[in-house]
Amino acid sequence: MAKEPDFSTLCVHGDPQRDPSGAPHTPIYNSSTFTFNSTADLVDVLEGRREGGLYTRFGMNPTITSLERQLAQLEGAESALSFTAGMAAASALFLTHGRKGIICLGDAYGGTLELLTNQLPLLDIHTRFLLGGEQDQLASALEEGYGLLFIETPTNPTLEIFDIHALAEQAHQHGALLVVDNTFASPANQQPLSLGADLVLHSATKYLGGHSDLTAGALMGPKTLLDPIWAWRKNLGQVPAPETAALLSRSLRTLPLRVQRQSDSALTIAKALAEHPRVSRVLYPGLPTFPGHAIAQKQMKGYGGMLSFELDGSGEETTTVVDRLQLIGNGASLGGVESLATQPTIITHRGVPAADRARRGIGENMIRLSVGLEDANELIADLLQALN
Ligand SMILES: Cc1ncc(COP(=O)(O)O)c(C=O)c1O
Repeated sequence: MAKEPDFSTLCVHGDPQRDPSGAPHTPIYNSSTFTFNSTADLVDVLEGRREGGLYTRFGMNPTITSLERQLAQLEGAESALSFTAGMAAASALFLTHGRKGIICLGDAYGGTLELLTNQLPLLDIHTRFLLGGEQDQLASALEEGYGLLFIETPTNPTLEIFDIHALAEQAHQHGALLVVDNTFASPANQQPLSLGADLVLHSATKYLGGHSDLTAGALMGPKTLLDPIWAWRKNLGQVPAPETAALLSRSLRTLPLRVQRQSDSALTIAKALAEHPRVSRVLYPGLPTFPGHAIAQKQMKGYGGMLSFELDGSGEETTTVVDRLQLIGNGASLGGVESLATQPTIITHRGVPAADRARRGIGENMIRLSVGLEDANELIADLLQALN
């Protein structure tokens, strides 16, 4: 039997189905609609008997379907759906599969926490939050009949690690789905479906896009779970533009190279920060002293390009450090080629009430760092001059 191609080969070769023009990169089909020789032909495409473009908002545009075949391959999934943003993917997911209630275990991106706290309950979708340290309450929560267990691992911004395989088993015992937001790890470092998760979510704005020049989202998994989400996406109008799909498709080809370099540099930087007297704690799964290290070692190929650290100082002093950075940009988002630092309390988790942030250990003295492709020693020098 032929050996499965390596992940890097899959990424470089992109869509296994070549465009009829022979172009190795799927062209941008810059069309909102497609015309047919006959109505019978149109109905064949509409009813899935033949593949083809039909109407771009439906996702039935060759640039978008090509991207989705690539996205599916990345996570070893049967199928994938692309979205205008990670939050579009999250909202379509929750509206489709969250109606029996959603448990969010551990920390998550502030926008996801806001959606689960403020908007979904308005639609009578019950949401429950368990901190990482409250995992012992998960079994009894699942017994109440929640249909979806949602996790990030590593989480934003505290880099908590959860055992995907164990949680998938636990969720399935209670008839619930396990969905993993794999944005921080990226499929280059971790493939949750192979560990038993039912669906994977990405903010493709981050590592998949990788250049801070697009906003997109993705869901990967089996068709039986994605088909009902497809209908929500279609009618909520959450399909990315073909231009964005092509840009994302191009970026996926270099994903393994970028993530490997970012993971290597992040480990070097984490070690350097851990030795600095002004740094009280470094949160990075690659450090042997980090609580989730053993599980990360088991389920991740590399530890990723994201790390957070806490200053032995006030929120204001922490802001001063961020403001003093010269090479590292002061801004939200992550996963791009350029390094970015941010105080989660100022932007990414600003909408999370202060008391909840405190419960989650997201203090004003925390800086989250997205490590880019610059020279690691130059990044360390920038951090040291800002800290000193
Ligand atoms: C882990 C994670 N999931 C989801 C999102 C939302 O993605 P987007 O900004 O593409 O909507 C983000 C954004 O920062 C994120 O960090």
